[in-house]
Amino acid sequence: MNLTEEQKRQYHRDGLLVLPELFSEREVAILRGEIERLCSVDADCIFREGADGAAKAMFRMHEPDGPTYSAPVRAASRQARTLGIAQQLFSDNELYMHHCKINMKPAVEGTVWNWHQDFGSWHLDGVARPEMTTMMVMLDEATEMGGCLYMLPGSHKGGWIEPYRDETTVYKTWATPADKVIEMMAKSPAPVALTGKPGTAAIFDCNILHGSGHNLSGNDRWQAYFCYNRCSNRPADVENPRPDWVRSQNWQPMDLVAEGAILAADAVPA
Ligand code: SIN
Ligand code: MN
Repeated sequence: MNLTEEQKRQYHRDGLLVLPELFSEREVAILRGEIERLCSVDADCIFREGADGAAKAMFRMHEPDGPTYSAPVRAASRQARTLGIAQQLFSDNELYMHHCKINMKPAVEGTVWNWHQDFGSWHLDGVARPEMTTMMVMLDEATEMGGCLYMLPGSHKGGWIEPYRDETTVYKTWATPADKVIEMMAKSPAPVALTGKPGTAAIFDCNILHGSGHNLSGNDRWQAYFCYNRCSNRPADVENPRPDWVRSQNWQPMDLVAEGAILAADAVPA
């Protein structure tokens, strides 16, 4: 799938490009089935919240050597429509996955992700340049009541903003200080709500400001995130690096796989 010049221009201007119907219903059903299967796994890279300990987030479904491996998720992250688009945006075929995650945001109980830049924490991981991008894929319908993502268009152009450690959330993150977010909002177009049908995707710059609210709806909000970095931009050594499932040490370039690879992977028993 080739991006048009207009799509590339839009991505660089807004830091964001929405790609409706990127995945078929069948593919979404396969990916959802995989996540359901992995929910019962006990692993450090699965975070839980709520009274019944429902999974909130899981990581590292793309590497065959771990407890959360899923061949269909790996295939989804290596498509021409996911990895290939990131390659086009960087004019670089040598990309690896910094991390791969599913955010589940369970119905009624799923909580907030405060405003942040992904590069806020990835820079602290030792990555020098903001040459990273994320493909998000909706595995449920994303609605405003259901806690969809909001993006502040053009905010990536302000560069890296020193984050603070946000201890208020279940999965501790690095967030952007409120005064900086308000300052950026005053000079940006209105935030964009990333709503859409399952299978809709969006690719966004690692410095764009984004966040999402509580899921007040009666439906889960599952979304997959494939975070790509250029192999030439792999992290430098840092003291106390985060675990491999969030700061990958597999810096080999990823290969593209065939269009039908998600369906084919589903046919092979896990
Ligand atoms: C993120 O930005 O890392 C997660 C936000 C979300 O899934 O709502
Ligand atoms: Mn983020």
